[in-house]
Amino acid sequence: MSTRQELADHLRVFVDLGISGCSRDQAWRQREENPAAVAHASAGDDWTDDMAGDAAETPVAEMGTDRAVALAALREEIGDCTRCALHALGRHQVVFGVGNPDADLMFVGEAPGETEDREGEPFVGEAGQLLTKIIEAIGLSRADVYIANIVKCRPPNNRNPEPPEVETCSPFLLRQIDVVRPKVVVALGKFAAHTLLGTDAPISRLRGRLHEYRHGIRIMPTYHPAYLLPHRSPEKKREVWEDMKIVRALLADSH
Ligand code: URA
Repeated sequence: MSTRQELADHLRVFVDLGISGCSRDQAWRQREENPAAVAHASAGDDWTDDMAGDAAETPVAEMGTDRAVALAALREEIGDCTRCALHALGRHQVVFGVGNPDADLMFVGEAPGETEDREGEPFVGEAGQLLTKIIEAIGLSRADVYIANIVKCRPPNNRNPEPPEVETCSPFLLRQIDVVRPKVVVALGKFAAHTLLGTDAPISRLRGRLHEYRHGIRIMPTYHPAYLLPHRSPEKKREVWEDMKIVRALLADSH
């Protein structure tokens, strides 16, 4: 049996067991907007810490699709990676990516932090909780979107990733994007924006408009949620909200 077939069978068992996050139900694909979340989001142009409103009933990601299989194969290829220095600098695990393999919308951050390194999932710490609110503010849930990072291992003391680390790891992110083929990628912060767009222009100049990527995918650079936290620049939430409204409109137009 081929690896691909084995992976597909493996994923199907998970689905059959009803393991959280797996469903064969196609209904979630219809992406019906959650009226509560949307109403709150449009009223929430004065976007505050509490912008998400009532949580949408979380649609579950379907597993067992070709894209899920391709992502699982890519994860397997990365393995317990030793390709760059980070593997020996205190990280606990590779943090691959999470969410809907068929997502129209993908978020790309910089690198896992302490919480992500511990839990094995991107954006689950303080900045991640803000990202979840940002997602919910446009009427979606984490299960609707796909979330990954440029660098998949935690840099020590949350330092910036070094160029060789970005160079070594980012091809895996590009392959994740090619598999998921979202309509829009939101590049969170300068590392994501610079890596995906091949520029070193300031994020303040890149954000606010859609950039062309490959396969017709558009990129919206915006500020990193960590930059929006109360001790940094929470006033920048308004600009992120402006960016997210552009993303929401593009997704609505493309249906
Ligand atoms: N910051 C990131 O860029 N990515 C994460 O996963 C968490 C924090």
